[in-house]
Amino acid sequence: MSLELSRRTFLTGAAGTVTLASLAACGNDSGSLVDPGSRAVRRAEQARRGARQSLVTARLAPQPTQIDLGGRTVSTWAYDDSVPGPLIRATAGDRLRVAVDNRLPDETSVHWHGIALRNDMDGVPGVTQDPIAAGGAFEYTFTVPDPGTYFYHPHVGVQLDRGLYGVLVVDDPAEPGHYDQEWIVVLDDWLDGTGRTPDQVLAHLRARSSTSGGMSGMGGMDMRGMDMGGMRSSVLGSAGDVTYPYFLVNGRTPADPTTYRAKAGQRVRIRLVNAGTDTAFRVALGGHPMTVTHSDGYPVQPRATDALMIGMGERYDVTVTLGDGIFPLVASAEGKHAQGFALVRTGGGRAPASTVRPAELKGRVLLGTDLVAANSVRLARRDVDTEHAVRLSGSMKPYRWFINGRSYPDSAALDVHQGERVRLVFWNHSMMFHPMHLHGHTFQVEGGARKDTVIVRPMQQVAVDLDADNPGQWMTHCHNLYHAEAGMMTLLSYRT
Ligand code: C2O
Ligand code: CU
Repeated sequence: MSLELSRRTFLTGAAGTVTLASLAACGNDSGSLVDPGSRAVRRAEQARRGARQSLVTARLAPQPTQIDLGGRTVSTWAYDDSVPGPLIRATAGDRLRVAVDNRLPDETSVHWHGIALRNDMDGVPGVTQDPIAAGGAFEYTFTVPDPGTYFYHPHVGVQLDRGLYGVLVVDDPAEPGHYDQEWIVVLDDWLDGTGRTPDQVLAHLRARSSTSGGMSGMGGMDMRGMDMGGMRSSVLGSAGDVTYPYFLVNGRTPADPTTYRAKAGQRVRIRLVNAGTDTAFRVALGGHPMTVTHSDGYPVQPRATDALMIGMGERYDVTVTLGDGIFPLVASAEGKHAQGFALVRTGGGRAPASTVRPAELKGRVLLGTDLVAANSVRLARRDVDTEHAVRLSGSMKPYRWFINGRSYPDSAALDVHQGERVRLVFWNHSMMFHPMHLHGHTFQVEGGARKDTVIVRPMQQVAVDLDADNPGQWMTHCHNLYHAEAGMMTLLSYRT
């Protein structure tokens, strides 16, 4: 019955139509699907709405455009005319209304990464909505319940690997605000408009599988932007599948970097976002330790560190107390021998070279799994009702990635019921790291931080717990979007 409903609801959608139905058929039949348009979803949204909710409006126009990256102008797709796209800012509890005007020659959607929003506004074509057709429009309206640093991007193919991303900050009305300034620092790996598009890269990765090629781990076979295991990190193992000519900080190459200005002695809150598609960044501010205060929007027990490893889709807030002078803010592309770069200026002096390697990069480096949730956001202790193993594996020939041995859309959904405590055990059976992301929920790494995206290192396990309190159909996938598009996706599927 509900399966039929889903079929009808999405019949007008494109390729995704079959998806929800086929996933549903794979489930263990423990009830019918909770549809994105169901009463349960509306009820959950109702519960999020406070009495005095302000409305925040914004417009986004994804479109083909020319972007000056600093020393190089590229043709790409971006929101309006900027990379990153416009900053959207609201206060926790507000209602956000974003009118999207699709000027791309392709269908698109907008996904609100990390937000525990109503399922029918999650922006996943074929699952939560029909795609926004070329020339079409869609209005996203939802409550933003939790403060933090989030971002938005399309959930169609590898469009994120063009210039289609922007930051969404949800302010905390109770924020103590022990800082003088706030900087938003968005990291990205860039290739669009430099001779190949992300779609071409994905097509080449797939095509390679039919020619003679190697398994992951054989290096030196870089062809047209693909790297079959040649890039290695001591921390993350195989560091990526794609080579990029540029690494950007706030849309700028190191040749013409952003300069952040402040006064010596000031405390700055830095909101770091990795909007890259195939690159983890090791971030350090030369001459300064950083104190990590938030992970994926949620507060952690503050930890001092020299450097921070940020996987694709992860966000961290750090505070620093600035010294006097001019300092490099470096986002080293882990395992890729290049970096993004910005400057922090509080005084005089000569700017460091954009290739400088601050000592902090080799100091203590924290990962999200090293952090612990602040008491205020720790999940209550509770027995686990439903546990799912989420085994991650892949093959280079053919280029495919799997969850529990299957590639999306042939995956088996992870069934849950509203009200349950759910444990997902991500288990990486490959030699490459995977930043695993779950939509619509902020889980807690076992004994650790609240997050929605967590790096799972090669051959390692990471268990995460969550309360199934946001009914609907939610994607969980690797935030290396080449992996996701090659199958490393499934659904956390609420059933009645
Ligand atoms: Cu940024 Cu499906 O995610
Ligand atoms: Cu992956």
